[in-house]
Amino acid sequence: MKDIFILGIESSCDETSAAVVVNGRKVLSNIIASQIDLHAEYGGVVPEIASRKHVELIIPVIDTALKEAGITLEDVDAIAVTYGPGLVGALLVGVTAAKAVAAALDKPLIKVHHIEGHIAANYISHPKLKPPYIGLIASGGHSHIVHVKDYLDIEILGMTRDDAAGEVFDKIARVLGLGYPGGPVIDKQAKLGNRKAVRFPRVNFPGGSYDFSFSGLKTAVINHVNQARQKGEELNIPDICASFQQAVVDVLVDHTLKAAKNLNVNKIVLAGGVAANSLLRETLKSKAQKIGMEALYPTPVLCTDNAAMIASAGYYSFLNDDFADLTLNAVPSLVIGEGRK
Ligand code: KG4
Ligand code: ZN
Repeated sequence: MKDIFILGIESSCDETSAAVVVNGRKVLSNIIASQIDLHAEYGGVVPEIASRKHVELIIPVIDTALKEAGITLEDVDAIAVTYGPGLVGALLVGVTAAKAVAAALDKPLIKVHHIEGHIAANYISHPKLKPPYIGLIASGGHSHIVHVKDYLDIEILGMTRDDAAGEVFDKIARVLGLGYPGGPVIDKQAKLGNRKAVRFPRVNFPGGSYDFSFSGLKTAVINHVNQARQKGEELNIPDICASFQQAVVDVLVDHTLKAAKNLNVNKIVLAGGVAANSLLRETLKSKAQKIGMEALYPTPVLCTDNAAMIASAGYYSFLNDDFADLTLNAVPSLVIGEGRK
């Protein structure tokens, strides 16, 4: 079969990204223009600023991705774009650019769910990976446990009932004055602290639910910090970071392993921005190994938002002839599996 070149486009949050991926697995280019510095002074992503910046960056980023891949738009077999979930104004920039390219060159258009993109990052990092497996996707906007039965057949087993894991990392970092995004800096601070210093809560729901809840943990950490400040005590930032991180990781890992055991699936795949967390990676790998399971995760650059993962996910829709038309719109609260052929 002929090699399939897919141009991926991602603009759902604060990264403008374009990539060229061959046959869903081989990355020829993956250009990521991050807006993190622009949003850092506000302590989080400002939607209006994100949309404007995407408009400025999208064409140069696509151009650079093609140039770096050594191809032209004529060589592209299809354009895959994130159409949800995400910030509506941000998503629309990528969707509109993808539709314009598809219309101008008469190329097929593929719509990709952002989370399915995160999962697909593993097909790039692990070229032999095939479904079925259990996926844990933890990012700034989502915390899901899924059963990936086949490339395009994904069942949600559990999800957060309130805050996403990454969102809590970001909020705690803000309370501690550590800046944005919170995940990488808490990860670093935690290495210097004692993870048993403070016992923060871990929430489990009855009835075998795989769902998460992180808002109680967030409140407990904030209360701990406020009480210490009121008493004039000096905060031990590394200890708080290590204890908080341990609480998040315990819950993420326990629920994922429980799902894998119950469904008799021995492969676990980690994805999303929080998948870059060093304790989560180590803990999942070692606990999985102990019970004869394999845990895989993408290289760090493929954990956070990027277009290579979108092109990879799009390849499996391409093989299934699942194409979008030019009426494609952004869907800010798109559900996994929704809108499939
Ligand atoms: O997947 P992503 O780039 O964007 C969304 O789709 O949300 O994830 C960003 C999130 C942020 O909340 C960030 O704090 C978190 O991923 N993150 C981490 C780490 N690196 C990024 N969380 C924990 N540990 C990390 N090392
Ligand atoms: Zn993401």
